[in-house]
Amino acid sequence: MDLIVYQIYPRSFCDSNGDGIGDICGIISKLDYLARLGVNAVWLCPCYKSPMIDNGYDVADYRSVAAEYGTLSDLKRLIDELHKRDMKLIMDLVPNHTSDEHEWFKQSRKSRDNPYSDYYYWVDSPPNGWQSMFEGSAWEYDGVRGQYYLHSYAAEQPDLNWDNPRVVAEMQAVVDYGVDLGVDGFRIDVIDQISKDFEGNRNCFGPRLHEYINALFGREKTRHVFTVGECWCDDIDEIKRHCAESRHELVTLFQFDHLMAGSADKWHSADNSPLRRIRDILIKWQNLTAKNDLIYSIFTDNHDNNFYLSRVGDSKNYRCESAMLIAAMFYLLKGVPFIYQGQEFGSVGSQFADIGDFRDVESVNYYNNRVGTVSHERLMEQINFGSRDNVRRPVAWNGGRYCGFSTAKPWIAPPSRAHEINLAADIASDKSVFRFYCRLINLRKSSDAIRYGDFRSLSGNGDDYFVYERVLGAERYTVVCNFDSVSQIEIPRGELILSNYNRSQSDKSDFRPYETAVYRG
Ligand code: NOJ
Repeated sequence: MDLIVYQIYPRSFCDSNGDGIGDICGIISKLDYLARLGVNAVWLCPCYKSPMIDNGYDVADYRSVAAEYGTLSDLKRLIDELHKRDMKLIMDLVPNHTSDEHEWFKQSRKSRDNPYSDYYYWVDSPPNGWQSMFEGSAWEYDGVRGQYYLHSYAAEQPDLNWDNPRVVAEMQAVVDYGVDLGVDGFRIDVIDQISKDFEGNRNCFGPRLHEYINALFGREKTRHVFTVGECWCDDIDEIKRHCAESRHELVTLFQFDHLMAGSADKWHSADNSPLRRIRDILIKWQNLTAKNDLIYSIFTDNHDNNFYLSRVGDSKNYRCESAMLIAAMFYLLKGVPFIYQGQEFGSVGSQFADIGDFRDVESVNYYNNRVGTVSHERLMEQINFGSRDNVRRPVAWNGGRYCGFSTAKPWIAPPSRAHEINLAADIASDKSVFRFYCRLINLRKSSDAIRYGDFRSLSGNGDDYFVYERVLGAERYTVVCNFDSVSQIEIPRGELILSNYNRSQSDKSDFRPYETAVYRG
């Protein structure tokens, strides 16, 4: 798999028309930058028409573009401009739920016997105690219809009833519409939730999941598209079933073990460095995917978690070093790399002074449900640590007033360290994280061993470092990733080709905190 994917959160990437909100023309203006970074695909988070309760994951019309992001012809131009540069477009597909403003839901809530009445799950009384991911019961009473409906996320995001064949057909048509537009792939939102087992204790992994995924992507028209499913599954056999080529379901899926290991839980930091745990998880997954029957998705950041660098590295004393360490630790592994906007120049989480500074529905609900039971300071600390808004603040292109994102006040404040941590400052620095990313990507693209070679870990459980090899035929790379202390590590043989500390070939000294080096040969 030769893809290297860059994830764009459209609201926060680049604003071309001065309304303080990122847009599609803003993305187009940055394509040459992405080409310079070396990525060859873009995953675009939802840009469909939406009331934006969950920033676009509440879709009101799968076939039109949100007015604040542009028009359908802007989207077509984006596809053309990407293709001109040999880049692919991976669209976010949200099949589990719609917005309550989607026409299907508006019709569905009207009565118990209209053509849309079974598009969602309606019940007279909640059959279970399922909770919404955004706090509170997942069942909401609707006064118009006089019944409860299911919403795994916000109340404004009702879950679609996939057991209704008409819903399956509608979503097939949505996928086909994207394919006809020229979209090259889909990232599928919470795909594990589209089939439900109401007797079960979770609203995911229902009995018809495989059938429904196959209905979307196993057809003649859709078999060629790239697919990556968001799937909170840790059962390896189940994952293999989803990704087996012969079953025509998904090409790969996001697996979250390593992401969760970066903190105690979403809102609380780990009490000691999680890098050892993360190394062990990576080793486990590299070994599991060794037989080429499964493609691993390599990622450290996305739009749903604070920057990994803030959770796993040292964003105060060794920001650039630890950003590069994390990158080398992940992006020379076997699999498909995904890079989240801003990560490539060492972006970190922000400080939010007040609950009014947050925009994210999950963070605000978390706060509202706990305020008064936990001290204000403690609560702010938790949301500052875990809020998705950390990664949704505008990309800091430079140190200007609105960090080069917009000419107007952005919909959410720029990152709190934007004056110091921004792309322009990074490129001007001799410790540029961006340049390090370019080198890693270049190495990946030019080496079959990095893309397809075998993986072997050379470090043991007790070590405070991760050393691994990637080998294909006569080509061999050894990647040394030291964690947060000084370590004595045997210098690998071969030519030193990459270092985040200006280490020289003859330097045999101990590895410094967050030092990484790559040897070839
Ligand atoms: C997962 C998405 O990544 C997240 O941003 C969204 O809030 C939920 N799914 C609901 O669509």
